[in-house]
Amino acid sequence: MVPANLTLRGSNYLTFAQQVTSPNQLIFPITAQVNSQDHLTIGGCDIVELVQNFGSPLYILDEETLRLASRQYRDSLLRFYPGKSQVIYASKAWSSLAICAIIASEGIGFDVVSGGELYTTLMALETIGLKDKAYSLIYFHGNNKSLSELSYAIENQCTIIVDNWWELEALESLAQEPVKIMLRLTPGIECHTHEYIRTGSLDSKFGFDPNQFEQLFSYVSQHKKLNCVGLHAHIGSQIFEKEPHQDLTSVLVKSLQSAKEHGLEIDTLNIGGGLGIRYTESDDPPSIVEWVEAVSKAMIDACTVAGVALPKLMIEPGRSLIATACVTAYTVGSSKEIPGIRNYIAVDGGMSDNPRPITYQSLYRVVLANGMSENAQFKVTIAGKHCESGDILIKDAALPATSSGDILVVPATGAYNSSMSSNYNRLPRPAAVLVNQGEANLIVKRETYMDLVKQDVLPERLSNHQS
Ligand SMILES: Cc1ncc(COP(=O)(O)O)c(C=O)c1O
Repeated sequence: MVPANLTLRGSNYLTFAQQVTSPNQLIFPITAQVNSQDHLTIGGCDIVELVQNFGSPLYILDEETLRLASRQYRDSLLRFYPGKSQVIYASKAWSSLAICAIIASEGIGFDVVSGGELYTTLMALETIGLKDKAYSLIYFHGNNKSLSELSYAIENQCTIIVDNWWELEALESLAQEPVKIMLRLTPGIECHTHEYIRTGSLDSKFGFDPNQFEQLFSYVSQHKKLNCVGLHAHIGSQIFEKEPHQDLTSVLVKSLQSAKEHGLEIDTLNIGGGLGIRYTESDDPPSIVEWVEAVSKAMIDACTVAGVALPKLMIEPGRSLIATACVTAYTVGSSKEIPGIRNYIAVDGGMSDNPRPITYQSLYRVVLANGMSENAQFKVTIAGKHCESGDILIKDAALPATSSGDILVVPATGAYNSSMSSNYNRLPRPAAVLVNQGEANLIVKRETYMDLVKQDVLPERLSNHQS
């Protein structure tokens, strides 16, 4: 358990963090330390030096933490679930060539939701010699896949997780041969998470509703180009309770029975992602191992009660696999004191590199990376640099005294930060570096001003303007 009174006195905090082994229960990556200069280091690299070398803001991804989370998912599923199983990474959390290559090298597959994510994953698989395994590794999701995206997925023999009737008909007309599909169901399960990231309740844009299941199974069983191998459901994100996923297993097992009664030969159930992580001390998610044990046991129990053979169990974590592996470093610029009201410190990024606070009111931690043992005695609000009053990264953070040029680090930014980043206010997107044992490799280049205009087209009649 995290002590409620934890104050960020640098190394004390990190020492505590390292005692916990499930990455999703930590706030900082597992390799976080404080060096003799009182600087934060991740993966053996001094954050201050990383900013000097790669610029700011900077995403810093710790390879060890990412690999540990991947292995915990993979190994605990093998340990607790006696049937076949597969972990796939929800690459919407953060998709890049290096990330996909690391994850594939850990034996994990991919959930992709667009032609772009599919392309990135295929390229990464190609570079590590696994492109011929794409058919068994890639699952294509989405509530409105375009015809060209569907064709692209068919061409690469991905399994398509079908979301709606329109897509079933589209696949029927596109496919020359039977296409491997799974059906995304909306199970009607509520969980306590932000409304925008809750997808399994009935009022959702995703999946088939329970009142359509019978009709759906019978339709699919009569259409031979639709080779249905399983059922899928995803109930939401940043979930701390185990019960919603445990309940989901029995809903899916019942649906599997019903599908079989309609003649579908299916043997796979995918319970989606959703395990939460610790962004701040008050977040208390189960560990990856505990969660996998709970869902495996629930699946075994549900199958025993129903008298059906164990299906292949699939899980597709995003956030809990990658969020904790990354921190974002910012440089402090201006500050503003409003006596008796609030003290603002502004950094060189904000809602364009981390849209979660403004979108979901998400909470984050922050530390002074170049003064880790200094006493965090001031209450400050960390503002972004965007022309938007709501562009506040963290309200009422505890920090030591700071001045312009200091480096702040916001942890747990590996999921839905870079992948949801934008060029709002024409800010170039940050670079990302992969750190491991003192080595830092650029994995995403910083955008330049040239990049910002490279897709712009100036019609000729505007470029020779005569006044
Ligand atoms: C279908 C599906 N699967 C998996 C995930 C991953 O969820 P999380 O990042 O919470 O693990 C998502 C996230 O939105 C999703 O929509």
